[in-house]
Amino acid sequence: MPLKIPEYIQTIAPYVPGKPIEELEREYGITDSIKLASNENPLGPPPAAMAALGQAFLKLHRYPDGAAFELTQRLARHLKVAPEQIVLGNGSDDLLGMLARVLLQPGDEVLVPDPSFLMYTIVAQSAGAVPIKVPLKATHIDLEKVAAAVGPRTRLIFICNPNNPTGSAVRRKDLEDFLAGLPAHVAVVLDEAYFEFVRDEECVSGIVLLASHANVVTLRTFSKAYGLAGLRVGYGIMPGYLAELLHRVRMPFNVNTLAQVAATAALDDTDFLGRTLATVHQGLDFLYAELTRRGLRYFPTQANFFLVDVGRQAADVFDALLRYGVIVRSMGAYGYPNFIRVSVGMPEENRRFLQALDKVLSAEL
Ligand SMILES: Cc1ncc(COP(=O)(O)O)c(C=O)c1O
Repeated sequence: MPLKIPEYIQTIAPYVPGKPIEELEREYGITDSIKLASNENPLGPPPAAMAALGQAFLKLHRYPDGAAFELTQRLARHLKVAPEQIVLGNGSDDLLGMLARVLLQPGDEVLVPDPSFLMYTIVAQSAGAVPIKVPLKATHIDLEKVAAAVGPRTRLIFICNPNNPTGSAVRRKDLEDFLAGLPAHVAVVLDEAYFEFVRDEECVSGIVLLASHANVVTLRTFSKAYGLAGLRVGYGIMPGYLAELLHRVRMPFNVNTLAQVAATAALDDTDFLGRTLATVHQGLDFLYAELTRRGLRYFPTQANFFLVDVGRQAADVFDALLRYGVIVRSMGAYGYPNFIRVSVGMPEENRRFLQALDKVLSAEL
């Protein structure tokens, strides 16, 4: 390598996204495949967002509103927080990067439950910080072990709630006890990308804890329950002093015009959100029942995806499912060599997944 690249950048393991449908169909020469791999909204985009986009096309020769005024105001009303406590991102991934730039220096330590969303390690390493993995307790983030791992160099802790890929959620009492025991120099990022799907009433959003904690950041996204993954809109809710610093490091037009318009309209499409949650929850209950009937183990989830134990190398099952036009995620890279992660789809997609799985598991791989 002709350039001198820091060791901490060279050792970053690339993020591998879910396989796109187009790529599968190109490679296998098939059509009509389904993707249950990236926890997207199976219903499609919200109708209100699509209707609002028409007018926005006429503005595409202009730069977006860098402050995203409309969307920020609308979100502030929706979340009952001040607009100054909100920072928007090009997906919540963008917020992860901004937080790393604001909070971390080389040599700092970042606590990352393991397995969890792989981007936490990547953004920590990008800033020269040292990610410290804290193993889960079975499928749950072990908050006691995370607290015990805090040291003088710890600057940031990522808590994915519900956790990707296990689907477990942290309960209010445990979260409050954990936050109360932390030293003031440690920031906590609660990644709530899937929070809208949570059915456990004992769970609480970090947004509720904002007023009482100066070190807590909550991340949300329009990519999952709001059906706008392709437009890339996420947001962080945080104390005003921190939001002000994130604004300084974010790119000036990080949320594009179409994304701002669609996300603002999506917040008003309560019918779509309701249909989304009903589809996911009914789909989950159906899949749980069908997998139980087949004697297959799974981890119950608070999100719109869950882990299924396929009892053999998941990478082989993943490959075999591709041949039937079904894309899931193999969990080898997350430390679950026998598990696949399946996003809940439309009823016919869930049935197709089960049919393909039956064929794959009854064949010799
Ligand atoms: C836990 C978690 N956080 C953040 C993201 C990123 O979402 P976005 O599309 O908002 O960047 C994902 C996407 O899969 C995720 O699973």
